[in-house]
Amino acid sequence: MMFFFIGTAVAPMMTASAGTISFATPQSSVADTNLYQFMPFPMGAAVGIARMKNNAKYSEVVSKEFNSITAENAMKFRSLHPAENTFNWADADYLVEFAQKNGKRLHGHTLNWYQYLPAWVTNFSGDSIAWENMLKTHIQTVVAHFKGKVASWDVVNEYFNDDGTIRPSVWVKNLGPDYIARCFQYAHEADPDAILFYNDYGHEYSSAKRTAIGKLINAFKARNIPIHGIGMQFHMTYTQSDANINAAMAFAAGTGLKVHLSELDIRLNTNKVQGFVFNETLAAQQADRYKFVVQAYNAAVPKAQQFGITTWNVGDADSWVPSWQGVPDYPLPFDANYLRKPAYKAIIEGGK
Ligand code: G3I
Repeated sequence: MMFFFIGTAVAPMMTASAGTISFATPQSSVADTNLYQFMPFPMGAAVGIARMKNNAKYSEVVSKEFNSITAENAMKFRSLHPAENTFNWADADYLVEFAQKNGKRLHGHTLNWYQYLPAWVTNFSGDSIAWENMLKTHIQTVVAHFKGKVASWDVVNEYFNDDGTIRPSVWVKNLGPDYIARCFQYAHEADPDAILFYNDYGHEYSSAKRTAIGKLINAFKARNIPIHGIGMQFHMTYTQSDANINAAMAFAAGTGLKVHLSELDIRLNTNKVQGFVFNETLAAQQADRYKFVVQAYNAAVPKAQQFGITTWNVGDADSWVPSWQGVPDYPLPFDANYLRKPAYKAIIEGGK
């Protein structure tokens, strides 16, 4: 039934016999498909505001294919709060309007992180009371501004190192390790309806980090600190094993919280080769991993905990990975022209 409908929806891009999306088939448009309609949970993308405004193909794909949106950068501290007494809402509000017009869920990213801070914060010289006020003012002003518009927040991002120790961030240095609990309390006070996540990366390769996150969540529950979800970024390599992916899913499911695969991308250029080119073999290997991740999530995480899966941007040319790694890569389900890669169909198959 589901398969028949997919075939109907994307027929122009499929080979008639196999009903599969061919790697080589020219795909002029994705306008007639809706990825999210084939998925058993919300399907999201992180988006950049400049592209949303200036690239019609990009915003069209976002609105047609996804039913959840995360701002890749527009809701981070440096973007929203560039000077102590200045909040800059324009870009994030643009996204709010887009989400409302197009009926999309908007996930907020991120209220507290050790990166992407404005200089006035990193140079802040106040005592611990001034730091606390600054933290609270930022969180509560932002959450209040988006109350009723942003459904959920990554409250704190990347608190732990990979070995499970607490990252010595500017926040921990100035406020002590328990500041993280107060972040959740401040956010909850400002919008009691918002679903609050702890977001991090590395669950698929670091059991030490999983253990640390699990302990944090249990301690929060015991103290009635309002935490409702766990975000697993899943910036992955295509070589990641089934066992590691399954371990992350089982761990997240076991928390009993909502589970968001919050920043999924699957990179291919693991040897950091300059001039690296995408090809059919890599496309198939990548598709296999996308399918496995979606399947593993869907199988391990109980329905009531499935917050959804978000890819970290849309097309390969939009991805942060090439600039991070310093080499070409192709980590997303759409290519640079927003044509669907085999990973696109693999996601749908994984959700069946
Ligand atoms: O703002 C300037 C812009 O004015 C200029 O035109 C442009 C030229 O390169 O640089 C712009 O800033 C960059 C910004 O992305 C927007 O493109 C920053 O230098 C760059 O540091 C920033 O990188 C982002 C990074 O977080 C830091 O905030 C990436 O796009 C974004 O994908 C990445 O996302 C993080 C998640 O938030 C948390 N998890 C890991 C993930 C990947 O690092």
